[in-house]
Amino acid sequence: MTIGFEGKVAVVTGAGGGLGRCHALELAKRGARVVVNDLGGAMDGTGGSSAAADEVVNEIKAAGGEAVSNGGSVSDPKGAASMIEQAMDSFGRVDILINNAGILRDKSFAKMEIEDFRMVLEVHLMGSTLCTKAVWPIMREQGYGRIVMTTSPSGLYGNFGQTNYGAAKLGIVGFMNTLKIEGAKNNIHTNAIAPVAATRMTENLMPEEALKALGPELITPAVVYLCSEEAPNGVILQAAGGRYSVACMVENEGVDLGTEASVEDIAENYEAIVDLTGAKPRGMLQLS
Ligand code: NAI
Repeated sequence: MTIGFEGKVAVVTGAGGGLGRCHALELAKRGARVVVNDLGGAMDGTGGSSAAADEVVNEIKAAGGEAVSNGGSVSDPKGAASMIEQAMDSFGRVDILINNAGILRDKSFAKMEIEDFRMVLEVHLMGSTLCTKAVWPIMREQGYGRIVMTTSPSGLYGNFGQTNYGAAKLGIVGFMNTLKIEGAKNNIHTNAIAPVAATRMTENLMPEEALKALGPELITPAVVYLCSEEAPNGVILQAAGGRYSVACMVENEGVDLGTEASVEDIAENYEAIVDLTGAKPRGMLQLS
């Protein structure tokens, strides 16, 4: 089986480097026409130039593909709208949106300025929201769309110094959980990737040996699958170093303590209430 993207148009945010670049190159290699967006700023979101996106466009063109470059910011409503407009003007449709752009402003919560919290939410959560908002009517109208959100193990499980990033990344999952329901009737599938990969974002966080096994190109197959016609709806795929798995919310059966339950009843039954034996995934519309 070969998964192709002939006739499809993709917008990939933050695709001037790291994971986004890999996703854009692979989609183009498989026939998609791609809008390569990147603000081209530093890892904390400061600065910016379209040079990074231009370079990826050149790479795609050199390999025989079709792409255009966009230097807008996902967190600016005009920037988000501009990349979707550019896709429509250049290629006439948008089938795929990969919300990948991101920044880091790590600090323990005690030391974090609210501005650093807000800025990370603006880029990850509002950036994904604004780009999705711009593309949503187009996908509804054409009765087809594939949207990939980029979440993170930090959002799913927590990580020291990343309250801002974790809140944004799990917010994105909440966003997806309702989009999957609202988009289903128009064949718009929304999924999320939770990657671990060696990029500039992680180069100072992990030992060199570990980074060698975590090529960003090992995340792309899962993301490109989630962009395909076969994509599930509402699934969080995890990808790291060639291992792929699913992450999901589970619920156990719980304990019925009746209508007179007291605080003491909770305390006495706590072990049984949180016993995950037999717990089941909840809320996934479709696993494959
Ligand atoms: P990266 O720093 O190489 O890529 C992020 C890109 O987003 C950069 O090229 C940057 O210029 C761009 N960007 C930042 N703010 C932007 C804005 N406002 N508008 C447009 N573009 C903007 O890092 P990496 O690792 O490739 O990150 C990609 C995504 O994957 C991010 O959402 C990140 O949070 C997520 N992620 C990465 C993990 C990893 O292990 N590398 C782990 C979990 C999640």
